[in-house]
Order: sequence, then structure tokens, then C-alpha cells
Amino acid sequence: MYQFISPIKIYYGEESLNNLDKILLDLKVQHVFLLTDPILKSLGVITPILERLSKLNIKVEISIDTEPEPSLLVGNVILEKVKESEAEIVIGIGGGSTLDLAKAASVLADNEGVIEDYLNLTGERKLIGKGLPKILIPTTAGTGSEVTDIAVFSLEDTKDVIAHDYLLADYTIIDPVLTYTLPPKVTAASGIDALTHAIEAYTSANASPLTDILALDAIGRITKHIRTAVRDSSDKEAREQMAFGSLLAGMSFYNAGVAGVHGLAYPLGGLFKIPHGESNAVLLAYVYDYIWPSCLVKIKEIAEAFQLPTDGKTNNEIAITVVKSLRDLVKDVGLPTTIKEYKINEENIDRLTTNALKQTRLLQRSPEILNSRAIKGIYRNAYEGKLTNHK
Ligand SMILES: [Fe+2]
Repeated sequence: MYQFISPIKIYYGEESLNNLDKILLDLKVQHVFLLTDPILKSLGVITPILERLSKLNIKVEISIDTEPEPSLLVGNVILEKVKESEAEIVIGIGGGSTLDLAKAASVLADNEGVIEDYLNLTGERKLIGKGLPKILIPTTAGTGSEVTDIAVFSLEDTKDVIAHDYLLADYTIIDPVLTYTLPPKVTAASGIDALTHAIEAYTSANASPLTDILALDAIGRITKHIRTAVRDSSDKEAREQMAFGSLLAGMSFYNAGVAGVHGLAYPLGGLFKIPHGESNAVLLAYVYDYIWPSCLVKIKEIAEAFQLPTDGKTNNEIAITVVKSLRDLVKDVGLPTTIKEYKINEENIDRLTTNALKQTRLLQRSPEILNSRAIKGIYRNAYEGKLTNHK
């Protein structure tokens, strides 16, 4: 028996932003809180939305108080603004951090307390109110935030989440047109994040037949199109396929969960402020270099989705090829393939390991047990750029 959850309504594909008017009219909304980031505002990406709201005579309060890898402080500032605005609905438009902030603020506006009261590792309160309705509109193809119930926050030395069904979007609009202005590095990092979601969901201990179908399709789609999307931002086909692949990966990992790569990436993001997609990218090959013996059949299917030649090869040889392809892909899209490149001192590996071990929610979904020794070894290999191939 399996369970599968997703947001109520998902609009996707080119020009799907046109559905926003209908949604707002259906909800009879008079007053909107719109959260975005300063770059999107200055690039004019939200201008078409503001024009629509104006035509519909809807009052709008805009906040650009977002930040990448958001802190609790920023989360609470936005929460206060949503409360003070007395808006009837929250629209989040931006990358994963903006969408996470919109999700947390819209729900907590209807609950007592502040963000830290509801964190997974240390929070002591339970959400009671469902919160304001929310429309989530991603402008990157990668984080999956628009289809999950999680909001991630940066703490001093790691990250933690608020996770609850109430954080799911009421409406999600995934329009690839909004990703046309993404610079290559963000396209690369968010695209590898999406690929990591798909691969980790596929090999997760919580995978199901439905999450497998979504994940495997996403893996094929993303690996086929990510290089083009990074090289040529105006390639509509690549942008559309990346947006769709990211949606499939998001729906899959929301239900199957992500695991070791994300668990080890959180401390890298928390301690050294490495963007989420990049911290996954720099670990992806090294985590799979360690865990592939525990998921050989699925690794072989991933090789097929990568369109790697498998004829005449043993499963072990195929797995080693998959791991190398993961590192090659990260390199091809222009992201660092070793932790060393971030000028992080090797002595921090112990601290990173201690923090990663706290991410039990993620680590328990790994097909291979990730204990202190294993995690330290993975960080060390990722630092040096060493693939062991289990030899
Ligand atoms: Fe992620």
C-alpha cells in the first residue's frame, strides 16, 4: 500500500501564468501579499503579474525582503509583514528560498509564535491554523519548493525545516518563460538540485512505484537538457524540459524523500553559505560512490536513463560509470566538483560530519547506512575529488 500527495492545482507549460487571473477571480481576492526577490523586481520579471493585479483592481503589497538560504530573522520579518498587511492570499514568485519564505509566512500568519517554534529539530509547537491560501510561482527549474510541504531555514551551522501539509501550495504555476532570464550558474545549480531530487527519490528507502516513474522520467529529461539550458539560456525546448523535469522530480521527492546528498549538503550550506544546488552538486558523485552497492538495480536503470552504454558490462562497472558521469555532468555545467575549490579548510570535516549526523530525517532514507565514519569519508573524498570505486 502506498500514499501519494501533491498540491491541489498545478498549472504548467509555456504561458501557464495566464491562469493567474482566473485563480484570483475564482477566489474573489481583493488584497494580495506578493513576495519576490530584489533581482526579479529589478529585471521586471514580476511586472506582468503587477499589471494583471492592477487590471483586476486588486490591492497588492510587495515585499522584496527575501534572501538566498534564508535565516530565521528574515523569515520572521516577512511573517510580521504578512500579518500586518491583512492580505487575503500570499503569492510567492522566485527561487526556492522565496517560495519557502512565502509558504512559512502564509501558514504561520494563522498560528501563534515565530518560525523557530515550528522547526523540525528543535521546535516545540504544532501548527493549528491552516493559514492563508498561497500561489507559488517558481522562476528557477530546480528546487521543487512549489510542490513540497517544506520550508528550509539556515541556522548558525546547519539548516532546519518546517514540514507540514499546510505548507503545500493551493495553486502552483510553472511557466518556463519565467526561467528565460536565469543566468547560467543559477540554471546549473538549480538543475543539479532537481537531478539530485530525482536520483535520491529513486534510490530512497521510501520510494514507491509512482515516485519511481516520476523520478526516472525526470532523471532522463534533466540529464538530456541541462547542458543546453546552461549554454543557451534562450533555448525554449531546454527551458521547457528542465521546468517539467524539475516538477516531476519535486513531486517524486516530496513523497519518496531525499537522503544522504541533501543531509550532507545542509551543513555545507549552513556553515559556509554555499548555495543549496551547489552544495548538492559538489557531493552528489561522492555520496553515490559510497552507496551504489546498496542500490545496484536502480543504478543500472539510472544508467539507462542517462543513455550510457550498458551492454556487456557488469552491474558494478555500470555503477562506477554512473558515478563518474555524475561528476562529469557537474563539471560540464560549470560547477565545482571538489569542496576544496570553496577554500574551506579541511579541518572543518569533523564539524561538518557532526552536523550532518543530526539530519536523521534525511539519512534514514539512504539505501546504505550513513554513520559517522561513512560521512567523514564522503566529505574527505569530496574535498580531494577522489572517487574510490570501492577498490
Ligand atoms: Fe534540494
